[in-house]
Amino acid sequence: MPDQNSFDSVYQHSIAQPEAFWEQAAEAIHWDKKWDQLIDDSDAPFTRWFVGGKTNVCYNAVDRHVDSGHGDQIALIHDSAITDSVKTLTFSELQQQVAAFSGALASQGVEKGDRVILYMPMVLEAVIAMLACARIGAVHSVVFGGFASNELAVRIDDCQPKVIVAASCGLEPGRVIEYKPLLDKAVELAEHTPDKCVVLQRPQCAATINGDRDIDWHEAVTKSEPKDCVSMDATDPLYILYTSGTTGQPKGVVRDTAGGIVALHWTMKNIYNVNPGDVYWAASDVGWVVGHSYIVYAPLFARNTSIVFEGKPVGTPDPGTFWRVISQHNVKVLFTAPTAFRAIKKEDPEGEYLKKYDVSCLQSLFLAGERTDPDTLQWATDQLGVPVIDHWWQTETGWAICSNCPGIELLPIKQGSPTKPLPGWEMDVLDDDGKPVKRGDIGSLVVKLPLPPGTFPTLWNARDRMFSSYFSRFPGYYESGDAGYIDEDGYVYVMSRTDDVINVAGHRLSTGAIEEVLASHPDVAECAVLGVRDALKGELPLGCLVLSSGVDRADDDIITECIALVREKIGPVAAFKLAAVVNRLPKTRSGKILRGTMKKIADNEEWKMPATIDDPAILDEITLALKSLGYAD
Ligand code: COA
Ligand code: AMP
Repeated sequence: MPDQNSFDSVYQHSIAQPEAFWEQAAEAIHWDKKWDQLIDDSDAPFTRWFVGGKTNVCYNAVDRHVDSGHGDQIALIHDSAITDSVKTLTFSELQQQVAAFSGALASQGVEKGDRVILYMPMVLEAVIAMLACARIGAVHSVVFGGFASNELAVRIDDCQPKVIVAASCGLEPGRVIEYKPLLDKAVELAEHTPDKCVVLQRPQCAATINGDRDIDWHEAVTKSEPKDCVSMDATDPLYILYTSGTTGQPKGVVRDTAGGIVALHWTMKNIYNVNPGDVYWAASDVGWVVGHSYIVYAPLFARNTSIVFEGKPVGTPDPGTFWRVISQHNVKVLFTAPTAFRAIKKEDPEGEYLKKYDVSCLQSLFLAGERTDPDTLQWATDQLGVPVIDHWWQTETGWAICSNCPGIELLPIKQGSPTKPLPGWEMDVLDDDGKPVKRGDIGSLVVKLPLPPGTFPTLWNARDRMFSSYFSRFPGYYESGDAGYIDEDGYVYVMSRTDDVINVAGHRLSTGAIEEVLASHPDVAECAVLGVRDALKGELPLGCLVLSSGVDRADDDIITECIALVREKIGPVAAFKLAAVVNRLPKTRSGKILRGTMKKIADNEEWKMPATIDDPAILDEITLALKSLGYAD
C-alpha cells in the first residue's frame, strides 16, 4: 500500500496499479450497483470507466447526506455582493427544492437522456436546476450568461434541448442584463425549437412570458409532483459543456456519470484538503467548468458547504469583497482565477482592505484558468500568508492535471509551475515528430492514455472531431493543446497554447471564432485576431482588418461596427475592443497568416523574420498599427 502522506508514493501507486487506485477511490461513493468492469478500453482511445455500474449524481451530491443524518448542514450559501444579500440552503432544503424542480422538468416532458439548456446567472436556482436534471437523468448544458444570442443558438442547434431554463436577468455591476430577450432571439435564430422555456423571474426584472412556450418556474413547480433519483448507468452522460475550439463551432465536452463522482470526490480531500462540513468557495461562474466541478458537484459530493457568489472581486462594492466573504462564511479554501487577484492587487496594492477582515480561517488559495504569473503568486502569498497553489486544467479534463496536493503532502512551491502531474495522469512532452524531448525543453504537453475517470469520454455529436482534435497527432496520447516543459524535479510548466485558443480573464476564447465574425462584416476582406498580453486579463483579443477594395468609409466607423458585431454575435465576454485597419497581413509564401510573429511584435518579445515570409515590409506596417493601439512599444 502507498504511504498516504507521500505524494510520490500515492502517485506511483496510481500509475502502477490504476485499477486498485480507482477502485479504492470508488468505494467512497454511493453505488446502486457496483461496476462489472472498472476500465473498458475496447474502443480505445474512447475509454469507459466503471462499466456496468449504476448510480446517480444527485443522490451522491444531496440525498446521500440527508440519509446519513446531515440534512441540517448548510449545503449552499448564496452571497450576492451585487444585491447585498445572503441566502442559505441546508441539504434537506436542497433535496426538497431539487426534487420539486425535477418534477417541474418532468411535467414539461423531460425524460432520461433529454437535453436541457440552462441560461442562468449566479443564483441558487442554477444549481438546483443542474441537480434536478441529474436527478432524473436529463443531460444539462449550461450556457454562460455573458454569451450573446447567436452563441446560445449554436448550442441549441447542437444539443437540441427539449427545455431551456432561463432567469429573467443577470446582474452585472451597475446594470441589469435582461436574459429573456436574448433567449427569445436565440430561439428565433436556432433551427431547433425547444418545447418549453421555464423562466425564473428575478425581482430586478420581470420577463414577458410567451404564450404556450414559456412557463414560470414557480408555477411549473407548483403544478407538479416531486421526483426521486433515477438509477443511471455509470457511463450515461451527465452534462455537455461547450468550450472554444479553433473554429466558430464550439466543442461540446461530455462528462459522464460515475467517473465524475469518483474523481471529483477524491480531489476534495487529496488536492484541496477539505473535510466534510468545511466551507469551500470557487469564485467562478456555473457557466464554466470550474463552476460545474467546484461550485456544484465536488463540494456537494464531499459534503462541503459551497458558496455561490454573485459579484466581482472589485467594484462590488470594493476590493475587500473576497475578504469579507471569506471571513463572514468561514471559508477554508478559495479557488479562483489569477486575473481576480490581479484586479484586487491593482486597486489595493498594499492590502488595506484585507486589514479590515479576519481571514485566519483560510487554509489555502488555489488558482487556475490561466498561468499564475510569479508577481501575482508572490503578492497573494505575502498578503494571505497561506500556500497559494497554481493548478492546471481544462474544460476537457474536468479536474486538475497538475497540482500541489496539500491533502497528501504539500510539495515545495515553484513559481510559474502548477507542480506535478496528479495521481492518474502520466505526462510527457513531445516534439513535432512525436518524440519525447529532453527535460527542460519545450514541446507539446501530452497525457498518456487512458485518461483517468471524470474526464471526457467524447464530444457531443462529434466523435470524429474528438479523435482529430485530441488523439490523432500523437497516437497513444491525449494532446492537451498546451505547450510547456518538465524540469529536472518533475515540475511541469505550462507556457502557451499550441492552437488558436486565447485566455481572457480566465475565459477561454477562440481567435478563429472572432475572425469568423469579423470576416462577416461586409467591408472586411480579411482579418487576423491575436491574443495580446494584458496586465489585468492576461490576454486580450486584438484584430487586424484588411478592407475590401473600393471601400471608402472612415476606418474608425468600420472598427466601431466590427467591435459591436463581435459583442452582438459572441457576447461581452469576448472583451473585443482593440482593432486596427491594415493594408495587408503578413503571410508565408504558402498563404498562412503569421499570427505568431504578429503576437511577438505586439508583446514586444524577441522575434525572428520568418524565412518563409512573403513580403517582410508588411511587418513594418503591422508594427505601426499595433503601436497605434498601445502595443509593440
Ligand atoms: N452576463 C453578462 N455579461 C457579463 C457576464 C455575465 N455573466 N460576465 C461578464 N460579462 C460582461 C462584463 O460586464 C463585461 O462587460 P463590459 O465590456 O460592458 O464591461 C464583459 O462581459 C467582460 O467581462 P470580464 O472579462 O469578466 O471583465 P470585467 O471587467 O467585468 O471584470 C475581472 C474583470 C478580472 C474582475 C473579472 O473578469 C473576474 O472576476 N474574473 C474572474 C475570473 C473567473 O471567474 N474566471 C472563470 C474561470 S476560473
Ligand atoms: P478552460 O477549458 O476554459 O478551463 O481553459 C483551459 C486552458 O486554460 C488550458 O488549456 C490552458 O491553456 C489554460 N490554463 C488553465 N489553467 C492553467 C494553469 N494553471 N496554468 C497555465 N495555463 C492554464
